[in-house]
Amino acid sequence: MSRLDSFIRRIVAQKKCLEQCAAAIGQTKGPVVELGLGNGRTFDHLRELLPDREIFVFERRPNAHAASTPDAAHLIEGDLALTLPKAQSLLPARAALLHSDIGCGDAAIDARTAALIAENLARVMASRGVVLSDQPLTHARLEPIALPEDVEEGRYFIYEWSA
Ligand SMILES: C[S@@+](CC[C@H](N)C(=O)[O-])C[C@H]1O[C@@H](n2cnc3c(N)ncnc32)[C@H](O)[C@@H]1O
Repeated sequence: MSRLDSFIRRIVAQKKCLEQCAAAIGQTKGPVVELGLGNGRTFDHLRELLPDREIFVFERRPNAHAASTPDAAHLIEGDLALTLPKAQSLLPARAALLHSDIGCGDAAIDARTAALIAENLARVMASRGVVLSDQPLTHARLEPIALPEDVEEGRYFIYEWSA
């Protein structure tokens, strides 16, 4: 498969996962949290999907176009190692949906970041909230949810944060 086809497949899968997860949170109360603003593509899609939810984005080096950057009250700047442990004081409530998109292509770094995220989920997630991640996450309270049809296993990971 060409790199272009692979990129298209990844982005289509990401869009389908975001849409499934946005629908899945239903009546679960709480904001949306995104880890990794990047160029703001998924933040922009989430705010279109969930216009009535507050979206808080954690990012160490915000560098997206202003139009795809949350306002200062919803942008939590700094490394996740410093910000996630303080999530309870930074967020108004526990999150109904967490989207984590932190992959940098270095497997060792991504695994360390995924472990850091997993160990802080209890500070972030509401009971029965949904976690969508580009990396596999391991925690006793994470229950895997099936991916949308046509999304290849291992491309994304969806979980419910059990009660
Ligand atoms: C793949 S990009 C996110 C792409 C974004 N979701 C989009 O659609 O444009 C990953 C982002 O995660 C951020 N990131 C990775 N590790 C981080 C960490 N430990 N703390 C804070 N931000 C981190 C990077 O700076 C980068 O902006």
